[in-house]
Amino acid sequence: MKFDTPATANPTDRMKVLGKPLDRVDGKLKTTGTAHYAYERNDVAPNAAYGYIVGSAIAKGRIDSIDDADAKAAPGVLAVVTYKNAGTVAKAKAHTARMLAGPDVQHYDQAVAVVVAETFEQARAAAKLLRVTYARTAGSFDLAAVKASATKPKDGNPDTAVGNFAGAFAKAAVKLDEQYTTPDQSHTMMEPHSTTAAWQGDKLTLWTSNQMINWAVRDMSETLGMPKENIHVMSPYVGGGFGSKLWIRSDAVMAALGSRAIGGRPVKLALARPQVMNNTTHRPATIQRLRIGAQKDGKITAIAHESWSGDLPGGGPETAPNATRLLYAGANRMTATRLAVLDLPEGNAMRAPGEAVGLLALEAAMDELAEKLKMDPVQLRIINDTQVDPEKPTRQFSQRDLVGCLKTGAERFGWNKRNPVPGQVRDGRWLVGMGMASAFRDNVTMKSGARVGIDKKGVVTVATDMTDIGTGSYTIIAQTAAELMGVPMDKVIVLLGDSSFPTSSGSGGQWGGNSSTAGVYAACMELRARVAQKLGFNSTDVVFEDGKVKSGNRSVSLSEAAGDAGLSAEDSIEFGDLTKTYAQATFGAHFVEVGVDSATGEIRVRRMSGAFAAGRILNPKSARSQVIGAMTMGVGAALMEDAIVDKRFGYFVNHDLAEYHVPAHADIPMQDVFFMDELDEKSSPMKAKGIGELGLCGVGAAIANAVYNACGVRIREYPLTLDKVI
Ligand code: MOS
Repeated sequence: MKFDTPATANPTDRMKVLGKPLDRVDGKLKTTGTAHYAYERNDVAPNAAYGYIVGSAIAKGRIDSIDDADAKAAPGVLAVVTYKNAGTVAKAKAHTARMLAGPDVQHYDQAVAVVVAETFEQARAAAKLLRVTYARTAGSFDLAAVKASATKPKDGNPDTAVGNFAGAFAKAAVKLDEQYTTPDQSHTMMEPHSTTAAWQGDKLTLWTSNQMINWAVRDMSETLGMPKENIHVMSPYVGGGFGSKLWIRSDAVMAALGSRAIGGRPVKLALARPQVMNNTTHRPATIQRLRIGAQKDGKITAIAHESWSGDLPGGGPETAPNATRLLYAGANRMTATRLAVLDLPEGNAMRAPGEAVGLLALEAAMDELAEKLKMDPVQLRIINDTQVDPEKPTRQFSQRDLVGCLKTGAERFGWNKRNPVPGQVRDGRWLVGMGMASAFRDNVTMKSGARVGIDKKGVVTVATDMTDIGTGSYTIIAQTAAELMGVPMDKVIVLLGDSSFPTSSGSGGQWGGNSSTAGVYAACMELRARVAQKLGFNSTDVVFEDGKVKSGNRSVSLSEAAGDAGLSAEDSIEFGDLTKTYAQATFGAHFVEVGVDSATGEIRVRRMSGAFAAGRILNPKSARSQVIGAMTMGVGAALMEDAIVDKRFGYFVNHDLAEYHVPAHADIPMQDVFFMDELDEKSSPMKAKGIGELGLCGVGAAIANAVYNACGVRIREYPLTLDKVI
């Protein structure tokens, strides 16, 4: 089904099942420990051996020698695989670095070997016996030091310019020119990257933890130089990804090599936490410069956002200026993204890449501008709202209710009680402040397919290679099928995460919820047509409800319609030009109250409230979970997350959860989430948009702004740790 004109009335509008705050259909499996994660496939891959990856001890250079004699002789060891005996291990096009080093090394902890043994402990112990010598070459590990060498990244990251920024900025009545920095961050999902791999002849089966099944097959095929048809990838349950599992990583490749080395017997391999942080990807650090010029009435006349980040050769930039291109009006504007070479582990997408860190700068700058203007920060944002793409004023937004979010959020939070003068409000030893920020995240859509069948019992089964990375895909897909086929939720079975199923959008960039359900919609519409045709029903008045198919005065149960053979249909949603014709994005407003300890500078978030506009909310409960999870991640970004680079040796020092801090329960206060009642008919037939990343965007800046309001200290280097307050 091609989606290239705005959705009209359709069966999703009944909202009998969609739009309801239903519990997760996979909730019981997960909470009882019976959902099968990639490392726990004894059910289908018994007798698995264990793989343990040895990572490079240098960040850049060459492997001089590998002595594996002691490792091979260690108890229980079955194989040691290195570049010398691995066969073809190419770099997939989508990868920046290779998944196996040798002889050259591209980054610290890049896989050098996998040791396979009967038990995990034996594999790990033997890994320590592998003797690798290196020739180290100098690398570059410090973004600030190499900033001047940064260049325009290739394809897809254009500089933008409208009007005359320099002229308008020079003439502006009120102006701001500040630099903000954000650190490297690690995804720190609960489930580390893990894979169970097995071979039968030349056919490879991977149970792996991955967001994008189709990409996993493609990249494994390119890496091992084997046909895609011979690769079967399954990822039915994923314990979080946040972008780190968009592409297969060394766990998948090294488990496959390990299994092949022992004749195809299954090998399971999970990255240890330090390997998650240095062997995989991270969100790159940024240096950002914001210049904003405004009239005395607050109208922005000039706005510029430049960002610098680094990556390995051939990698990409952090696209921090994304949101600035679309969020506020202003006739004269420019953005630029620059990329330096850094020999750190690969930088790549982490939840809301671009916007998440871009708004940490932009929305703090807006707060600073509001103060210079002596204007309320909410009001400043409202008067700079735009209903058209500011870079291309003929292009409208498909739907944009930033102002509604700002007003509703302010009201719910009690923003009118804020004292605009910093440092005035005390609660015992705490200095109390309020801050706010806009939320913005692109709405991306991706082609997505599904197969839907009904059997003689009237049970509807949906199969698609879509993943559920903890987001609730199983549930909203079941709701979509239940709504479309007119059956209760307990008559729907959803099968996900298997490359033998139709190719879906996968989970990334907050496109998965809207796109994958739209794909299920397409397949259900096709199935409805087949049912109607089989029954000789007039397809214009046919209704699917209460387990029946009705047309005129005829009514047939779905099970009868399916018959003994059952009926099924497969289709996909393909998105046409509506994303080009219209700017599509999601909006929100964050409001935060913090306390800053007047003696120690410790910052505690006391209250958080947000209002969000993201089209139809398919399931308010799972959507809220996404948003509060994202808001929590935003507290981490604002106050603690910081992957610290050893600038001599080029690795992340605090590479575990003891030292890389993310919020714990005690760090998170009451979180209030409100969804604006809206439909976006230009986004998909579901009239929904992405919600998975929006909640992260802007919230850290709201915290920084609240800290300023509390104590009068403006910190432009994230995270806001207490040493910077004092
Ligand atoms: Mo997202 S960073 O595309 O999983």
